[in-house]
Amino acid sequence: MGKYQEVFDKSIQDPNGFWAEAAEAISWYRKWDQVLDASNPPFYRWFPGGELNTCYNALDRHVAAGRGDQVAVIHDSPVTDSVTTYTYSQFLDLTAKAAGALQALGVVKGDTVVIYMPMVPEALMAMLACARLGAIHSVVFGGFAPKELAIRIDDAKPKVIVSASCGIEVKKVIAYKPLLDKAIDLATHKPQSCLILARPQAAAELIPGRDHDWHQSLAQAAPAACVPVQATDPLYILYTSGTTGLPKGIVRDNGGHAVAMAWSMKNIYDVAPGDVYWAASDVGWVVGHSYIVYAPLILGCTTVVYEGKPVGTPDPGAFWRVISQHGVKVLFTAPTAFRAIKREDPRGEYFKRYDLGGFKYLFLAGERTDPDTYYWAQDLLQRPVIDHWWQTETGWAIAGNCLGLEMLPIKAGSATKPVPGYDVRILDANGQEAPRGNPGVVAVKLPLPPGTLPTLWQADERFLNSYMRPYPGYYFTGDEGFMDTDGYVNIMGRVDDVINVAGHRLSTGAMEEIVAQHPDVAECAVIGAADDLKGQLPVGFVVLKAGVNRDPADIKKELVQMVREQIGAVAAFKEAVVVPRLPKTRSGKILRGTMRKIADAQGFSVPSTIDDPTSLDEIRQALQTIGYAQAKG
Ligand code: COA
Ligand code: AMP
Repeated sequence: MGKYQEVFDKSIQDPNGFWAEAAEAISWYRKWDQVLDASNPPFYRWFPGGELNTCYNALDRHVAAGRGDQVAVIHDSPVTDSVTTYTYSQFLDLTAKAAGALQALGVVKGDTVVIYMPMVPEALMAMLACARLGAIHSVVFGGFAPKELAIRIDDAKPKVIVSASCGIEVKKVIAYKPLLDKAIDLATHKPQSCLILARPQAAAELIPGRDHDWHQSLAQAAPAACVPVQATDPLYILYTSGTTGLPKGIVRDNGGHAVAMAWSMKNIYDVAPGDVYWAASDVGWVVGHSYIVYAPLILGCTTVVYEGKPVGTPDPGAFWRVISQHGVKVLFTAPTAFRAIKREDPRGEYFKRYDLGGFKYLFLAGERTDPDTYYWAQDLLQRPVIDHWWQTETGWAIAGNCLGLEMLPIKAGSATKPVPGYDVRILDANGQEAPRGNPGVVAVKLPLPPGTLPTLWQADERFLNSYMRPYPGYYFTGDEGFMDTDGYVNIMGRVDDVINVAGHRLSTGAMEEIVAQHPDVAECAVIGAADDLKGQLPVGFVVLKAGVNRDPADIKKELVQMVREQIGAVAAFKEAVVVPRLPKTRSGKILRGTMRKIADAQGFSVPSTIDDPTSLDEIRQALQTIGYAQAKG
């Protein structure tokens, strides 16, 4: 039996023993009373009774162990033409001061703090400063518009919001402060204070009494000590898209999370303390939380915080430049980044210009790595290219190739095997296990391993309805796929209205809610259509109210603007077509799945429940006018 199988079996047969051993990698103030509390399923709790501090594990203990001079964080920012490094000692000092500044604003254990920041080291300091105080952070991705930020403010009810004067998107300076001010205006809940990082690229006007300058506040702050918290206390809330406009507040605990982060770094990514690890994502997403901030620092690695893009900052050699300049061992990014590089540098001319001696592995996630992208990356890099599948909910990989255990043969298009701790099953429509090779919904037999969501923020019922009730005894992932005869997991897409645009998870339901507000729109549907670069792009279909005979191009322009203003540029909603009606079943359900297949020019059978099959031809014709549905159908 190989090492992977041995470790996987142990994790499923003896989760208590397995995770107790893994928990030795973490520094505890008090050991747990129990490894897994399974007394109230499906609310499982890991390490109850244990006390720790996540910031202590990420920073203080490395300094205490004499590794204070090792580089903790490299901020590589082609958009500001700068590279700044921080040792563990320096990062600890700044984080302790940031915690002191938050403390001075009244933040105490259990309070929530919203963080709305670009990819700057201060975003990491703010997150860790919250962890230091036992406060709960909720980072909101900078590409979200004020309304989305306001929704999160109203749900998380932060005492303080930490933000910056601006972010920089390639050459565009995006002023964050006016967006924050607008969000606070829109929100019902008002934070007591805001802590604003002034960047040289844009000034931020501070509102007296409410807003405080980051640098000044840190200069005046006394460094704050670590506050012990319960293993089961929340570390953060991260909102993610569901099927409606109301995002789900995924809760992460402290103890299970720290254990899972440390275990995954060694066993999935095969890294050791001192290695340079780079997750080219954003702190606003789960990948950023887990693998820019917490996991690399908890293990004592150097983490790269990259403020740039794979292309255009300044060229498609950007990733190779960063890897060679900083000695990166592992790069983790989304397949869309590789498709962007491939489009601009198909023969890898830029790649050849750099010495990538220390670079060992590429890990991809956020969407399925399609075989074309896999083979292109593999041919170019001549190193293992590992697809692994996970979600905001789990916080770390559910299926992957655990290189720290052993490298299993790679099958293009598959995320390899279930990661130890995850008992992955494929279920049919009746909730029975599907035979190997047959498609079904992907579920995980409970309990989930440490680090995964214990619940949704102040929404236990929604947690149960979304994840636990659809298939009792299992966690419902929302993905569909199959397991092949070798036990390899193949994830084929979502069964709900969630789409993946350039690795960003978005809700078509939320977009429909906005499109439906347009005064000329009677009815609408938004689907995710396949896109060569971004994986999927949203496309809107609208039925106009009787008597409206305006130019459809004008209506489209208005709809695009509405989605951009209300969700944000990141939604990449750029296409909307007018159709005479939407295809529906006789009971009135919109056939979004069939519409998606038409857009992607996939074969499909006309649903027997359809009200009027000619409505599908109308959809095809409308899609063809914007360049979709071109091949077969
Ligand atoms: N703040 C403000 N605006 C932002 C933003 C931020 N943090 N991040 C993105 N945006 C804006 C962009 O400027 C762009 O606006 P535009 O419509 O005015 O051009 C829009 O949101 C879409 O951004 P993005 O999805 O990044 O697309 P892009 O066309 O600029 O770049 C890629 C395409 C593939 C290069 C880019 O998506 C990428 O690098 N992806 C890497 C994968 C990744 O980070 N995935 C996250 C999960 S692992
Ligand atoms: P997020 O919560 O933003 O990480 O998005 C999670 C969703 O992205 C999953 O439910 C999948 O639909 C998709 N996803 C992420 N990684 C992969 C992968 N490696 N293969 C297939 N789908 C993926």
